[in-house]
Amino acid sequence: MEHIKPRKKIIKNPIKGTKYTLAVSSAKGGVGKSTFATNLALALNKIGCNVGILDADIYGPSLPKLFSIEGKPETDGKNLIPINKYQIQCMSIGFLTDEQTPMIWRGPMVTSAIKTFTQKVSWKDLDFIIVDMPPGTGDTQLTFAQEIKIDGAIIISTPQEIALQDVKRGISMFDKLGTKIIGLVDNMSYFKGDDGKKYDIFGSGGVKKTADSFNKKFLGEIPIYPEVGKYGDQGRPIVEALPNHEVSKIYISLAEKIKDEYLSQSNSN
Ligand SMILES: Nc1ncnc2c1ncn2[C@@H]1O[C@H](COP(=O)(O)OP(=O)(O)OP(=O)(O)O)[C@@H](O)[C@H]1O
Ligand SMILES: [Mg+2]
Repeated sequence: MEHIKPRKKIIKNPIKGTKYTLAVSSAKGGVGKSTFATNLALALNKIGCNVGILDADIYGPSLPKLFSIEGKPETDGKNLIPINKYQIQCMSIGFLTDEQTPMIWRGPMVTSAIKTFTQKVSWKDLDFIIVDMPPGTGDTQLTFAQEIKIDGAIIISTPQEIALQDVKRGISMFDKLGTKIIGLVDNMSYFKGDDGKKYDIFGSGGVKKTADSFNKKFLGEIPIYPEVGKYGDQGRPIVEALPNHEVSKIYISLAEKIKDEYLSQSNSN
């Protein structure tokens, strides 16, 4: 048994320069995590919070495109300085590698990239860092949940049965790792036609039911709006581009709930 290393005592490091670290996660890909993470960050900023986004998707970073950032971060000799865009402090592996970097080189980079992004970036006076997780329950989630103090995770899902299966895996992972789950969001939950009627494209009610059955909070529904995709593709997410749009108001009201939960109490856990 010599070869089995003794389990080292895990010390969870908070990210320097921030009060709270929130993870946006989902076990399934393509459900809208990055869209949610960027819009939530912008919404928190609109209501007066200092916010950073850490794009932790080493294999498929989204932040350079969603925020239309092309430059590389500077260093102060010791640490990387986040790139400021839309009043949000941003860091992504996509700022450091070009799109052509082969995926096979990225695997071994995961743990060291996370260490760099959490310990070697000069995040400044943040209330929240929003961590945009890659899909799944893999190395990134594990490294974060075990080594970094995550103050809360938001799980994004779409209402399809197959997505919900994955959500259950995501919930058990965070539960097992002792990470607090703030709640579940039902993204792309319905489409509102010009006639004002709701069309449930992927089914309905499943995310809330899953939240209930696992005793987690249901944070609400975000409908499908073509504008969400359009402005994301243009590098100016909808909360920034159209802050009065119906969907921006949903993000802002969610941001208010999160701000209240974390900042209104003199909570220091
Ligand atoms: N509420 C919405 N209305 C319309 N389109 C949306 C909505 N939410 C997300 N999308 C679109 O869905 C697609 C996937 O979104 P996104 O890239 O945010 O997902 P993701 O979960 O981060 O994906 P990945 O797992 O690859 O990281 C994007 O084209 C995005 O514009
Ligand atoms: Mg993503």
